[in-house]
Amino acid sequence: MRLISTILMIQFWAGIDLVQSAECNVDAHHPENGGYFIEGINGFGTEVDPNAKRKITNSTWATGIEYKDGSVKYCTGQFCSETCRNDGCAETIAGHTCSMIRFCYEADSGSDVWLMPDEKALQQCDFSSATQICDTGGGSGEDCCNYKVELDHDLKAYLFASKEGCGEGQRAVVAVDDYNNVGDACFGMGQTSARIKKCTCNYEDEEMSTLSEPCHSNFVAGCNLHSPDLGDDTSCCDDATCVGKHQDVTHSIGQALEIERKVLCNDDIPGRCLNEGIYDCCASQCSGCGADVTPFTEWSICVSGNATAGTGNCGYGGHGGAYSQFECDFTKCTEDHKWHMAGEPYNNWMKLMDPDNLVVPTVVVVPTVDDVTLTEAPKKTTPPTKPPAPTPTVEEEASSASVNMMHGLTVAISFGMLVSLA
Ligand SMILES: *[C@@H]1O[C@H](CO)[C@@H](O)[C@H](O)[C@H]1NC(C)=O
Ligand SMILES: *[C@@H]1O[C@H](CO)[C@@H](O)[C@H](O)[C@H]1NC(C)=O
Repeated sequence: MRLISTILMIQFWAGIDLVQSAECNVDAHHPENGGYFIEGINGFGTEVDPNAKRKITNSTWATGIEYKDGSVKYCTGQFCSETCRNDGCAETIAGHTCSMIRFCYEADSGSDVWLMPDEKALQQCDFSSATQICDTGGGSGEDCCNYKVELDHDLKAYLFASKEGCGEGQRAVVAVDDYNNVGDACFGMGQTSARIKKCTCNYEDEEMSTLSEPCHSNFVAGCNLHSPDLGDDTSCCDDATCVGKHQDVTHSIGQALEIERKVLCNDDIPGRCLNEGIYDCCASQCSGCGADVTPFTEWSICVSGNATAGTGNCGYGGHGGAYSQFECDFTKCTEDHKWHMAGEPYNNWMKLMDPDNLVVPTVVVVPTVDDVTLTEAPKKTTPPTKPPAPTPTVEEEASSASVNMMHGLTVAISFGMLVSLA
């Protein structure tokens, strides 16, 4: 009996170990410090770490420093949201899981670190229900005092204070976001980044990255994953023509992506096909506009249409620059083009986009009964009906590289990051 229960105990602990192996690690999470980003409680310094291409963090924990402590501030400027401009937003330090929130102080400073239970306790410096993280001796040395935020930590604001300095403002609030949420979006951006073409995934061309962690390291990792294995001939780097693995149909990554892309294609929706600098809206369709044509071929579907003008908004890269909408002008299409305005594909699509203004021309080439019976199974007796043109769905939009990129951008900006468009 005793042996059996011992074995059960061992199995029980083995089970616990399995759960704990879901800890942050360098392979799946932050590539430094065993999987943890070091988050300085005093934000970032002015110097740049030349290896990491990031500003060094500052972990000084003392009185006389104004920490982000959850107090409401009104912001101004480009990245200020409407709410924070008008109603104010609580200022917090942006943190994430898989990090060590670091507090550095000398043993004789009298500082220590407590986790406060709620906002009221933080405001009133009430330590009666607080949990001590480090004592006065725990903040010195190279590693200082660290509060480890594991993968399974609650995504919420963590409130810290020093018992002695609390009344003088030695308190700070870190809002913890999910490493994977932030990281995955940036990893994806890296995988399709224009840096791949220029061989600058590691920011070789810049002193510093404008992305904060964990975005930066994930972006770099995604970019490097899709960078080609160039060997000795790096000449493509100089003229920015290197073909990433994601664009190379002779590589398994590119091949799989192109197959996946074609599956998501809806050829009932027009779009812009960009192929070696040539834009075409008239003759192209999604399935014929991929990396198997040229590595840099790009398809952008039309997300809206104007029946009066005979135009559509189809991806980005219009005359106003890379982030202005590209307009397809279907009035330029001729009869031999798929998206000729008198043709069925155009009218079926425009009927969904702008039904009120669409005047269906009387000369529309509608398949006759004879045409249909030629291609349909002979048993079919129901009168031929035009298949309804499917409504564009989110997946179809996502198949457009430009839309995808803009989405990534929006995600990144919503995490309060500055994005280098280079
Ligand atoms: C960290 O911040 C403190 C207070 O603002 C400052 O005195 C110190 O020089 C900074 N350290 C670094 C390395 O930037
Ligand atoms: C559609 O195009 C017409 C003619 O160019 C223009 O007057 C109208 O404002 C456009 N409609 C929309 C919704 O943009």
